[in-house]
Amino acid sequence: MEIAALILAAGKGTRMKSEIVKVMHPLAGKPMVAYPVAVAKMVGASRIALVVGHQAERVQEYFNRDETISIVLQEEQLGTGHAVACAAEFLAGCDGDLLILCGDTPLITGETLRSLVATHNLHGAAITLLTARLPDPFGYGRVIKGSDGRILRIVEEKDATPVEREIDEINSGIYCVKAAFLREAVTRIGNDNVQQEYYLTDIIGLADEAGLACYSCAVTDPAEVMGVNDRVQMAAAGAVLRGRINEALMLSGVTIIDPATTYIEQGSVIGRDTVIFPNAVIGGGTVIGEGCVIAPSVTITNCRLGDRVQIKAGSVLEESVIHNDVAVGPMAHLRPGTVLKEQVKIGNFVETKKAVIGEGSKASHLTYLGDCFIGKDVNIGCGTITCNYDGKKKHVTIIEDGVFVGSDVQLVAPVTVGKNSLIAAGTTVTTDIPPDSLALSRTPQVNKEGWVKNKRGSGH
Ligand code: UD1
Ligand code: CA
Repeated sequence: MEIAALILAAGKGTRMKSEIVKVMHPLAGKPMVAYPVAVAKMVGASRIALVVGHQAERVQEYFNRDETISIVLQEEQLGTGHAVACAAEFLAGCDGDLLILCGDTPLITGETLRSLVATHNLHGAAITLLTARLPDPFGYGRVIKGSDGRILRIVEEKDATPVEREIDEINSGIYCVKAAFLREAVTRIGNDNVQQEYYLTDIIGLADEAGLACYSCAVTDPAEVMGVNDRVQMAAAGAVLRGRINEALMLSGVTIIDPATTYIEQGSVIGRDTVIFPNAVIGGGTVIGEGCVIAPSVTITNCRLGDRVQIKAGSVLEESVIHNDVAVGPMAHLRPGTVLKEQVKIGNFVETKKAVIGEGSKASHLTYLGDCFIGKDVNIGCGTITCNYDGKKKHVTIIEDGVFVGSDVQLVAPVTVGKNSLIAAGTTVTTDIPPDSLALSRTPQVNKEGWVKNKRGSGH
């Protein structure tokens, strides 16, 4: 299907009460406007124009590398009709039909758009409008129809008479229009209304006057056309989008114990038989393999996890790569640049950053591992710290295969620990350790017998 799409996204979104323009607010990990864009592509729109105004640079930057998208600037937001008029140059290049979508209507699906286009083609209409019947139509434009079912005009809430406000069929703001008609009609829209705006909806009245047919196509699920104008509606839209993501994952074989409290962002890939417990937040293009367990209250951002990985409760993982059969947590923090090879075990209160940890190695408790390369089968004792920062620069610690690091060891980088060495508990390592050596830097212990008793006197 050869079709073009125009997406209106210039409004500020005053009701959001935000520094950020409405259409760039994230929903399930993507800006709101990315959803209508994705749906337009899904139905085959090869040319998409985005009308932007408020924080135009912000929107433009997000779509920078997308060649199907052209940006149209609407400097002053004088209404939806004016927004379309600003795209005159884009419209001049369209000959067939055009889809008009709104940047603040993110729940629309490809299936619905396809039926909109099919209805449009069936009637050979000038305009086909996507409508919905809402129990509470407040705030939306109402659809006024003639006895033959054709649409005569749309009246906005603010301009409607009490009788018109009783109409429960609303304008979704989504249309399929003959481009040639639209090009000409938008030049004739006036702003004689309560809001003194140029209403795109006036094209319906214009078509009717010209004897051209306008039809409606009603959505099956009214939730799809919900416009997001404030943060209450944004939360509701977010819940719908997350519900769809969770449903698709569950149907593909992922166990989600409690979908209502599982926050998986758009673009995450999760393998079969992985089990996700409540309050997980998974996003930023994370890929998780098969048979993993993600325990309660885990946050994973932009990570790659292999198969059979266990992430225990309360852990936070960012930009890390985790190979098969690794266990992490509870309450571990993997920061960017962490690579855990197969069968690594990272325990509670362990923080890693730019740390590459070899197969089978373990850091089970209370440890900081930063800027380090750790070999295979290394044991990192409780309380070990890589002292990677000298106040100005970061330095690297290398621990070779088979090393045993005792508890409470500080490794003052840059430093290398040779293969199979043993570092005694409490040691501060300041120089390289040759392979197969014992390193020990504690002060010898002294026991002063009777000292406590003498100091405190006989009364004790
Ligand atoms: C609009 C429709 C209304 C419909 C509702 C559906 C008009 C006059 N009214 O009302 O019939 O029921 O959508 O959600 O069209 N925009 C621009 N430039 C502008 C004004 C708006 O790009 O000058 C964009 C906004 O960023 C937004 C979209 O157009 O994405 C809709 O604008 P909004 O002001 O939210 O219109 P509504 O009052 O909701
Ligand atoms: Ca709106």
